[in-house]
This record gives sequence, C-alpha cells and structure tokens, in this order.
Amino acid sequence: MPYAHITGWGMSIPEKVLTNDDLAQMVDTNDEWIRERTGIRQRHIAGKNDTTASLATEAATNALRLAKLPPTEVDLIVVATSSPEYTFPSTASIVQDRLGAEKAGAFDLSAACTGFIFALNMASQAIRSGSIQNAVVIGSETLSRIVDWTDRSTCILFGDGAGAFVLQAREEPGGVLSAVMRSDGSGADLLSIPGGGSAHPATSQTVLDGLHFIHMSGNEVFRFATRVMASASKEAIEKAGLKTDDIQLIIPHQANLRIIQAAARGLRLPMERFVVNVDKYGNTSTASIPIAVCEAAEQGLLHPGDNTVMVGFGAGLTWGAVAVHWTGPFEEAKPIRLRPYVRLAALRSLLRRIWRFIEGLIWGRGKDSSA
Ligand code: UT7
Repeated sequence: MPYAHITGWGMSIPEKVLTNDDLAQMVDTNDEWIRERTGIRQRHIAGKNDTTASLATEAATNALRLAKLPPTEVDLIVVATSSPEYTFPSTASIVQDRLGAEKAGAFDLSAACTGFIFALNMASQAIRSGSIQNAVVIGSETLSRIVDWTDRSTCILFGDGAGAFVLQAREEPGGVLSAVMRSDGSGADLLSIPGGGSAHPATSQTVLDGLHFIHMSGNEVFRFATRVMASASKEAIEKAGLKTDDIQLIIPHQANLRIIQAAARGLRLPMERFVVNVDKYGNTSTASIPIAVCEAAEQGLLHPGDNTVMVGFGAGLTWGAVAVHWTGPFEEAKPIRLRPYVRLAALRSLLRRIWRFIEGLIWGRGKDSSA
C-alpha cells in the first residue's frame, strides 16, 4: 500500500498589513488587550485583486515548484476554505483551471478551520488506496471579506492568506501516518455565518441584520478548543504507533496563543516544540496550519525524518489531527519551470471559452446540441 508523502509546500500572503493599533482606530479595542488575550500583533488583509482562488493558486504553484511536479501530473485538487470564491462553483475548480491541472478532479471541502486537516486526510486516503498518485491540498482564505469590521469580538482575530501541500505516492513508509477527524454539530451555532445559505437565504433584511458576517461565541469556542487540541494530538500519535516523545514538532491551528499554550500543557510538552506565528498572521482558518508548516520549514525547524503532528479545531464544531513523518521533495525529481504551464493554462482556458461561444452560435444558445 503506497504512503502519501508531503513533497512540496507553499504559501501566499497578501501584502497589506493591519496592526492592532490600526484596529484601535476602527473599534473600541487596544494593542495590549489583543496581544494579551490572543497573542496577535498584526494580520494580513487581501488587496483589491486578491481572492481566495488567486491566493490558493499562488500557494499551490509554490508548492508544485518545490515538489518539482508539473500541474499536468496532478490527479486531485482539494481546497479547504471557509471563505470560498462562490457557493458554487468550487474554488478548487477555478484553481484547477488556472494551474492547468488538466487531469485533476477538484472540489472544496467545508470543515471550517479544521478543513485543512480533513482535506489532508482525504487526499492521503485517496493515495493510500492506490486510486491516485499526486494531489494538491490547499487551505485558502479571504476572511476579511466576511468579517464584521464593527464587531470587536471577531474582527481582531482573523487574517487572510493561503498555504498548500503537494502529496505524492511512494511505497516506502512516511508522510501522513495517521489521522483523527471529529465533529460535534450540537455546537453548530457557536461559530457560524448564519445568512446566505438555505436556512436564511440572502435578502436585504439578512444583509441589514449582518447575517452574512462571522458570528461567534468566543468563550465557548475557547473552552472547546482547549479540551480537544491535546486529546486529538494524543490520539493521532497513538494511532501512528508513536509516543509523544517521538514528536519533534507540533504545528497547531493558529487561533489564539492561549489555546496553543493549553495544548502544550495538555501534552506536557514545552512551548519550544510548538510552531507559533499567530502574532504575524492572526487566525487564517484553513490556511493557518500550512502557512505555519511553510515557515517552520523555511526556518529549518523541520528535517527529513522528523515526526510532527498537525492539529486543528473550528466551526462545526470540528477538530482533528494528523501525525506526519516528514520527508520533503523526492530526490530524483528534476527542477521545473512553472510559469510556462500557468501561461499555457490561461491560453487554453481562453480558447475553451471562445470555442464554447462559437459552439453557442453554431447550435443556437440554449438549444440541445445533441438533438
Ligand atoms: O478558528 C476558531 C476561531 N475562533 C476562536 O479560536 C475563538 C476562541 N476564543 C477566543 O480566542 C477568545 O474567547 C477571544 C479572544 C475571542 C475573547 O477572549 P476572552 O478572554 O474569552 O474574552 P471575553 O470574550 O471573555 O471578553 C472579556 C472582556 C469583555 O468585557 P467585560 O464584559 O468583561 O466588560 C469583552 O467585552 O473583554 C471585552 N472585549 C474586548 N475588549 C477590548 C471583547 N473583545 C474585545 C476587544 N478589545 N477586541
């Protein structure tokens, strides 16, 4: 049975920075409160031309470059997101087109901030089953577009960005070793976007009532998170046949420094074993774990042969963890230039649209072409 190795990783962060002092000009808050209660100092905010799909495409391109894998070899693209480009089509379909991943199936996965862990497990399982060889898993968010910038209890927390992994099949053991996926829908109301779905379809009234923004019972989510982070990590470690001492690095969802500290206490591990970058990016939901992995790799904190745990929680309620044996890019892979693939993808996409238009003229718009 093949293993799903993580052979590439990449991130995309919008340029614009919003500091705590900037926020203090917008709502009744201050730098000291935000730092003490959350550990956040700043977050990045999507620019006019950034969308969830554009950030996802850039992160995936960087991950493919590192893995030295052409997009045409990708079999599956999963985008975990809480702020999709549209309700449908999936953000993943747009990314597939922009990458020129001609043979890939693509879909979005909705499990809020735990989405990246769930997506990583799903893609790994597809590789483990032998049905595919190569997958790209992405967490991408433009949460700044769904945050109520007048609500100080939520707007201080979130940021924008994307992170991506390339997963590849290989017989030798390694990569994603185990996974834990859990849900408790009795807490569905604790963190949600109530409007715009089938329960409260968008109307001018739902917009006036702010139902299209993130609503959260911060205290209750906090209590839940401190309970599940350590237990999910322990379960993933056990399932992988490892002990806590075998784990070199824990990469937790970056929501609140105090939640990460509680997880460290629960696991009886020093904070030095945890990757923390919530100070720079705030909570980027599905993107937070892959962004933290990219930074850990860049800072030389992750080495081939290391065991690591990635663990997250979020709306749903959902939580989960994976134990990973870190390998890095396959040695035999040859460097590739990604830009020509992406340019060709743009041209191919344009030609397909033009052809669809011509077909419409030939067959008549709205008529069944098979008739
Ligand atoms: O990916 C999952 C996403 N969600 C989370 O991870 C959220 C988890 N929860 C949290 O991180 C924390 O609950 C928060 C950071 C949201 C809030 O921290 P807290 O320590 O639980 O504060 P609190 O809600 O108990 O509020 C304490 C006080 C309140 O004032 P009173 O009622 O004691 O007078 C709030 O009104 O702090 C006030 N407050 C603020 N003050 C200044 C709430 N937000 C702010 C703010 N600035 N931004």
